[in-house]
Amino acid sequence: MEEKQILCVGLVVLDIINVVDKYPEEDTDRRCLSQRWQRGGNASNSCTVLSLLGARCAFMGSLAPGHVADFVLDDLRRHSVDLRYVVLQTKGSIPTSTVIINEASGSRTILHAYRNLPDVSAKDFEKVDLTQFKWIHIEGRNASEQVKMLQRIEEYNAKQPVPQKVRVSVEIEKPREELFQLFSYGEVVFVSKDVAKHLGFKSAVEALRGLYSRVKKGATLVCAWAEEGADALGPDGQLLHSDAFPPPRVVDTLGAGDTFNASVIFSLSKGNSMQEALRFGCQVAGKKCGLQGFDGIV
Ligand code: ADP
Ligand code: FRU
Repeated sequence: MEEKQILCVGLVVLDIINVVDKYPEEDTDRRCLSQRWQRGGNASNSCTVLSLLGARCAFMGSLAPGHVADFVLDDLRRHSVDLRYVVLQTKGSIPTSTVIINEASGSRTILHAYRNLPDVSAKDFEKVDLTQFKWIHIEGRNASEQVKMLQRIEEYNAKQPVPQKVRVSVEIEKPREELFQLFSYGEVVFVSKDVAKHLGFKSAVEALRGLYSRVKKGATLVCAWAEEGADALGPDGQLLHSDAFPPPRVVDTLGAGDTFNASVIFSLSKGNSMQEALRFGCQVAGKKCGLQGFDGIV
């Protein structure tokens, strides 16, 4: 029997990436070193990485027809991502991000443009055949709908023997109150440095200790912290840490977090321990930071 798939639910975005040798000053005029279109969005980037790592994966997110959809669909297909659960909307447009990458540091500055594209709903998610998936990852967005999706998975899992249960992870990346209800779902919760800082924590360890009470019983909370690597706290109360793996030169950190999440999920889905998964996540994310885009991470 073919191995089951990993499903990522969330955004696909068009990233318009401008690489500069110096971050532009306001009201000046200069040339960028290069400009490219790249498919982006956390869930969509994580699919790219899962696929490059050799996992069978599917993307579930909204699209609106047009040139941008053609571009992103083409790229998803190029990466062998299953598109069966993509939802074609009749209003709104695909979000775009203007990204400035400073070649000297690899830092990325993102200017988001959301274009009223409706998010995938719990009703759309009812169509998902849960028997096909070993893992479902949800990028926190329209949280109250996503809670219903997560409850559907919980109800399904309650009737399955352990090997058939769908494993679940959730990402809370944006510091938006609505998303915080997602802490109590999933076996793995990824909380970003941004959210941690917004809530007043000064390090990953502080955030894990401060937020652990919000996750469900038995879950692991994971927090990546750029050059400092990543930490995790699970039900046994033991703090786990991996250092980052800095590449020879940091050229592009766009999607480092998405790469980390995908690699952690990939590793755990293969039966590895959380300590091994953290290390693998940092290794692959570190490699990504040394490359433009994702191709070449393995
Ligand atoms: P993002 O800002 O994309 O959400 P993070 O900053 O949280 O991502 O980083 C995710 C992971 O990527 C980190 O745990 C680390 O392993 C790796 N990473 C990020 N930035 C660097 C860097 N400058 N050097 C090495 N590794 C990095
Ligand atoms: C990177 C990313 C970009 C996108 C933005 C959306 O993590 O997914 O590809 O522009 O974040 O929030």
